[in-house]
Amino acid sequence: MPLVLLANRAPIRQTPTGWEAALGGLASALLPVLEDRGGAWVAMREPEDGAPLMQPYPEASPTFTVHRVPLEEEEFKDYYNGMSNQVLWPLAHYLVNHVAPERAFRGAYRAVNRRFAEAALAAAAEVSSAPPATSGASGDADPVQFWIQDYHLMLVPELIRQRRPGARIGHFWHIPWPAPEVFRILPSARELLRGMLGADLVGFHTDGDAENFRESARDLVGATVEGHDVLWEGRRVRAERHPIGIDVEKFEAFGHDAHIAQEADTFRREIFADHIVLGIDRLDYTKGLLLRLEAFERFLESYPEMHGHVAMFQIATPSRTGIPAYAQLKRKVEQAVGRINGRFAEGAWTPIHYRYRAYTQQELAALYRAADVALVTPLRDGMNLVAHEFGAISGAAMDDGAQPGVLILSELAGASDYLDGAVCVNPYDTDGLARVLRAAIDLPLAEKRRRLSLVREAVRGLDVHAWAARFLDRLGESQPVASSQ
Ligand code: F6P
Repeated sequence: MPLVLLANRAPIRQTPTGWEAALGGLASALLPVLEDRGGAWVAMREPEDGAPLMQPYPEASPTFTVHRVPLEEEEFKDYYNGMSNQVLWPLAHYLVNHVAPERAFRGAYRAVNRRFAEAALAAAAEVSSAPPATSGASGDADPVQFWIQDYHLMLVPELIRQRRPGARIGHFWHIPWPAPEVFRILPSARELLRGMLGADLVGFHTDGDAENFRESARDLVGATVEGHDVLWEGRRVRAERHPIGIDVEKFEAFGHDAHIAQEADTFRREIFADHIVLGIDRLDYTKGLLLRLEAFERFLESYPEMHGHVAMFQIATPSRTGIPAYAQLKRKVEQAVGRINGRFAEGAWTPIHYRYRAYTQQELAALYRAADVALVTPLRDGMNLVAHEFGAISGAAMDDGAQPGVLILSELAGASDYLDGAVCVNPYDTDGLARVLRAAIDLPLAEKRRRLSLVREAVRGLDVHAWAARFLDRLGESQPVASSQ
């Protein structure tokens, strides 16, 4: 059955030698599915981007088509920078002080969602010669499945449902879903919920997120909740946990790679410290960078014997640079790094090495391998795949005789529901984080091994290819109508 996938970003990127799969788990998991089943991927095209609007892929022998929805400058600002990333993003992460008034952005969000839905419907008509079912009656199955990704496209399921009532429509929500009392802050909360309830299956990373969604549907639009299902307008919408992971084979291979191991050794020599504490994040206020830096400052204050022996290496990847809060955060992080280094650096030892740029996956792999401790301390996170990547690489390297790394993980990240073996912390508790870091450095080797093995087993259990297959199987099982409402 062909698949029409909708995501804000396209799964392919242009390189000097042609088009290839974009970096990131979603593209690596879903491109093989599309190549196998045929269909389309619908994504936005940013204003200055000259990428084709319709692009058969792979170039040599196409099996599916990438459709791009071209956005004008204003539309991009309001739909992406505005409604998606200054309203929905901070709200879902419980950072209500960052939430901008939605009024100015709502129109563009609706219009762009509509254009995504139109493009998906056109793509579906192209990929299937069979006519779509005109009703949702069971047995009248639509020959195309739709799978919508994330918070940029909340209205799309309902828009597709109106035109293809018998379609199987899935939606995966990659970020946290807040408690109903937080979600209802949005003036358009009900409209957005009704949009998503057009789906048959809505996936989340954790049980808590799925439960918050079901309760939001019950409390805000009066839907009936029955177990994991939401009964809505004569249909059964499954809202359940489908935790995502990484491409485990690829990241474990990085952990075994001899060249990457050499790069890791070179990096360790350059850092001048016995213990390397690593942070890798997009520069985003949800990632807890400022509090993490404060906690490291507290660590240096509390444990002077660690001076000269421990260094933090923090990468902040540029992200959403058109949004003022991100530019402000950049300045604050730079100030904090400057303050801490100015206060504590001695001789050749620098306490914090800070880099504001994107790294290749191979470069990151060397850092993961070299790290003694990974600090993954978001204030809130849907899953957090940095934690998974560290577990896979450090775990594989351990098999080859490398020192096992310790994962310190925020208990407010979805990953903490799964990665047994991580040392869990509250990212707001800077004193606690400083103490946990001190303890992590001194953990006996056997305990480090035991913990890392547990993390790694959990990471293996959440492979991204299995995630995609499970979600689509589940979507295939859904009954288009059959609710008792
Ligand atoms: O976690 C949600 C998410 O949209 C991811 O899918 C993506 O990798 C990340 O945020 C960065 O998002 P953007 O597309 O805004 O750069």
